[in-house]
Amino acid sequence: MESKTTPSNLGAVVSVRGSVVDIRFNAHLPPIYTLLHAKEGKIAIEVLAQLDTHRVRGIALTDTQGLVRGNAVEDTGGPLKAPVGKATLSRMFDVFGNAIDRQAEPTDVQWRTVHRAPPELARRSTKSEIFETGIKLIDVLVPIERGGKAGLFGGAGVGKTVLLTEMIHNMIEHQKGVSIFCGIGERCREGEELYRDMKAAGVLPNMVMVFGQMNEPPGSRFRVGLAALTMAEYFRDDEHRDVLLLIDNIFRFIQAGMEVSGLMGQMPSRLGYQPTMGTELSGLEERIANTDTGAITSIQAVYVPADDLTDPAAVHTFSHLSASIVLSRKRASEGLFPAIDLLQSSSKMATSAIVGERHYLLGQEIRRTLAQYENLKDIIAMLGLEQLAPEDRKVVARARRLERFLTQPFFATEKFSGIKGKLVSLKDSLDGCERILRDEFKDYPESALYMIGAIDEAKEKAKNVKPVAKAESAPKTDAKGDPKAAGNSEPKAKPEPQPKAKPKPEVEHAAANTHAS
Ligand SMILES: Nc1ncnc2c1ncn2[C@@H]1O[C@H](COP(=O)(O)OP(=O)(O)OP(=O)(O)O)[C@@H](O)[C@H]1O
Ligand SMILES: [Mg+2]
Repeated sequence: MESKTTPSNLGAVVSVRGSVVDIRFNAHLPPIYTLLHAKEGKIAIEVLAQLDTHRVRGIALTDTQGLVRGNAVEDTGGPLKAPVGKATLSRMFDVFGNAIDRQAEPTDVQWRTVHRAPPELARRSTKSEIFETGIKLIDVLVPIERGGKAGLFGGAGVGKTVLLTEMIHNMIEHQKGVSIFCGIGERCREGEELYRDMKAAGVLPNMVMVFGQMNEPPGSRFRVGLAALTMAEYFRDDEHRDVLLLIDNIFRFIQAGMEVSGLMGQMPSRLGYQPTMGTELSGLEERIANTDTGAITSIQAVYVPADDLTDPAAVHTFSHLSASIVLSRKRASEGLFPAIDLLQSSSKMATSAIVGERHYLLGQEIRRTLAQYENLKDIIAMLGLEQLAPEDRKVVARARRLERFLTQPFFATEKFSGIKGKLVSLKDSLDGCERILRDEFKDYPESALYMIGAIDEAKEKAKNVKPVAKAESAPKTDAKGDPKAAGNSEPKAKPEPQPKAKPKPEVEHAAANTHAS
């Protein structure tokens, strides 16, 4: 029962229920958010409620194993703090700011409380500028705002982490500022892999990583986002730099809040979520803001439970974002990566005033074409492609080529897909889409457009694919028109070593034969 800090305020544990600990203080009741230490600092507890004149209830940020009634608890005299400063760059931390990269603790750092207010309205600035990602589909249809918040929504295993990693890869090198990666409640392995990848890519010197992964107690997962934000705010406010804040996964923050709330005995609200979810989420999201000194651009993965976009967690998150990128299981199962559902995704940046008239109109045209194809799918499934009007067949051909052109090989998946990653400029992406919509590629096999970079690569790729019936312009879907069947025969990105469109020609021929007969 030693006292490390000067006049120490000591209490004693009254009860321990999992992560919830009640502590009695006889002299002075510590205020809300105070960090308490027990067991020589091995156990950290954050005060969340004052029960009466002598007792507080707190949530443990560490495991409470070994804590028993009567154990001494020391008031640290302040809230949870995060280290900020230049020395944090290239380092990896946990929620307490302990270095977890097996190197010495950084010395030249300041410690700041993680509970901070969002910047005042008067300090906020709104610029409308696009952040190019080099990913065709995103740049053309769901452009990301510099200094905005973008969400990657998707159910389990549809590619959120892969897409986020790809964005880190593409953006970090061009970004002059600092990047902060925050892992909340995801796999520990992913954090370690990311660290090694970033180190190998040489971008670590401008990056900070903070992790509170799925093995950590709910209190820690609940606070780690705030710790990362505190570091981001330092670079924005003190060093006047632009910050890229990447979070995987914001749903785990909400989930941790739900666990904490449940443990604290609050009545659950809709679907078991905590009644305070909206407040907690905005407490985090509102701090991700642009001010006159710098901008925090944030990209967040959002797990969508049971692929249900009406889930309260997803709905609450949507409202904070300037771009929502929705990943679809259907596209993923067809091998169309990145599996972004274009018709569900949206960006506030996609207006003619911001992206320009040409880009805007092109985006509209692409969406229209894909929506028309979506509507026609039922008819194709029932009657076959041949029954469509010639004009509709053209729409189908364009849409399917667009869908394929908008796939892209990723640097992040090079290792298991065997295809080299590609970065495509916005200009090339727009040109490609425009030329497909002008039917310039109607005679090319669809597979020539699959997993390529700029559109000119299609010409090269088409040479390796056997030519198909040139005369018929449009329909290249499979005979009975089941678009899924056709899609399924696309080379799957996973184990397929060469994407040289091997399975595709059969489909093409099938279609061609049907027309011949
Ligand atoms: N762009 C892509 N190219 C090829 N394969 C991909 C791509 N994106 C995702 N995949 C495949 O999908 C798998 C799951 O992706 P990922 O781990 O990103 O999913 P997730 O949405 O983060 O899942 P979770 O919710 O479980 O974290 C990958 O391991 C990979 O096989
Ligand atoms: Mg993931």
